[in-house]
Amino acid sequence: MNTRLNVITLDGPAGVGKSTLARLLAENLRMAYLDTGAMFRCLALRLGAGAEKLAESAVRLRCADVCFSLDGKGNATKLCCDGMPVGEEIRGEKVGLLAARIAAVPVVREILRKAQREIGETAPLVAEGRDMGIVVFPDARFKFFLDAAPEVRARRRLKDLELHGETVNLSELAEQIRRRDDMDRNRAIAPLRPADDALLVDTSRMTVGRTLNLMLRHIKEGQRAAAKISRLA
Ligand code: DC
Repeated sequence: MNTRLNVITLDGPAGVGKSTLARLLAENLRMAYLDTGAMFRCLALRLGAGAEKLAESAVRLRCADVCFSLDGKGNATKLCCDGMPVGEEIRGEKVGLLAARIAAVPVVREILRKAQREIGETAPLVAEGRDMGIVVFPDARFKFFLDAAPEVRARRRLKDLELHGETVNLSELAEQIRRRDDMDRNRAIAPLRPADDALLVDTSRMTVGRTLNLMLRHIKEGQRAAAKISRLA
């Protein structure tokens, strides 16, 4: 099958709701769901603090045997690292910051880009992250870029972390998100920005349900238009 039809990309900054929406979209469309931020978080934990200063050869050596895979689809999709489902230990904002630091290292992005594309060949995918639409799956048929005001994202993240049992302070969290935004948008390699052909959605005042409906409608309209063109051809 053609990759162009089989991957939907979802990019955007921290706390915008990408994971929730990617999971719902995958469930609706019976596709698998790939959380690429989780892959950066796994490598950040594996490499430890200060990894962004390691020599390229040391990073390659320490990541040589890392193996990512996806199991299942829709809501039940599980990302596995070395055969084990990725757990809650990667979810905190501290690991998020470590991940943002190693995300600026070219060899880390090269290793993960390869792993992400390999996963993209194994199943129809909703892939969410920062550079899905521009770098990893530039040929994806549908691309979305979600954004929301920083204070809205901080409140969403707070709710999410509390659900995962973490106690966090809203203003500290807002500051961590601001630092992460800064790193993600301004790094030299694969900075966060929308693909030219992505649908931009500001979710600041939108519920999850409304955003999901808008995305599904966009996909259905695109599919109808493509079917019409192929009938005419
Ligand atoms: O989506 P997240 O918060 O779990 O991502 C953690 C960090 O990983 C994020 O701050 C930047 C990095 N990341 C990236 O650079 N590219 C991706 N495709 C996904 C995440």
